[in-house]
Amino acid sequence: MGSVTHNKSVEFFETQFQRQIRGQDYALNPFETLALDYLTGTVLDLGCGLGNLSLEAGRRGHRVVAVDASPTAIARINAQAQQEGLPVQAIQADVESWTIDQSYDTVVAIGLLMFFRRERALELLRAIQEHVHPGGRAIVNVLTEGTTYMGMFQPDNYYLFPDHELEERFGGWTILLSRHGTFPAPEGTRKEFSTVVAERPSQTS
Ligand SMILES: C[S@@+](CC[C@H](N)C(=O)[O-])C[C@H]1O[C@@H](n2cnc3c(N)ncnc32)[C@H](O)[C@@H]1O
Repeated sequence: MGSVTHNKSVEFFETQFQRQIRGQDYALNPFETLALDYLTGTVLDLGCGLGNLSLEAGRRGHRVVAVDASPTAIARINAQAQQEGLPVQAIQADVESWTIDQSYDTVVAIGLLMFFRRERALELLRAIQEHVHPGGRAIVNVLTEGTTYMGMFQPDNYYLFPDHELEERFGGWTILLSRHGTFPAPEGTRKEFSTVVAERPSQTS
């Protein structure tokens, strides 16, 4: 098992995943459930967390590469994939510096991009878009301005997207779904989300 990136956000999730594994809590979250219906072909699941989406995608026949900084999550995914004989490969990497090395039919990033400074978050979003095959899909979910639950952020290393920025950055793509939502968080705070599913044009002019 690799070492944990020294990053408050990653440590937050590492602790959460260890707790979830102890409790055998592997339920898909609402965004992962939503994403399942839009997956096509090969899948990159960036910031895959415990891999509930990646593993379910593998069960449905998708070849999946799952990436996260949490060693606990990566070990769990690879063990489960091996046990079930699924075409899922999990890689431990810090996405602050990791580069996407090949293109996929679907690139998923649920709940990841807000854990970087604005410049890196937008650079990653562009990299995601560039690594979707023509006719393929990007499924991206971020926290937006208005979010008041800050406990999982490293103070100098996060970005709350303005309300419509995510969708606007998919100019020229077909927006299959664009949704905003609010979820209650601890101590009376809240999380505001934006989710976009977009299809890259088949032909680039
Ligand atoms: C909100 S969770 C989302 C997990 C999963 N996509 C889901 O929907 O349940 C955020 C994930 O991003 C990962 N993460 C945060 N910063 C990261 C980084 N710098 N490199 C790689 N993964 C990171 C965390 O370890 C965590 O698994």
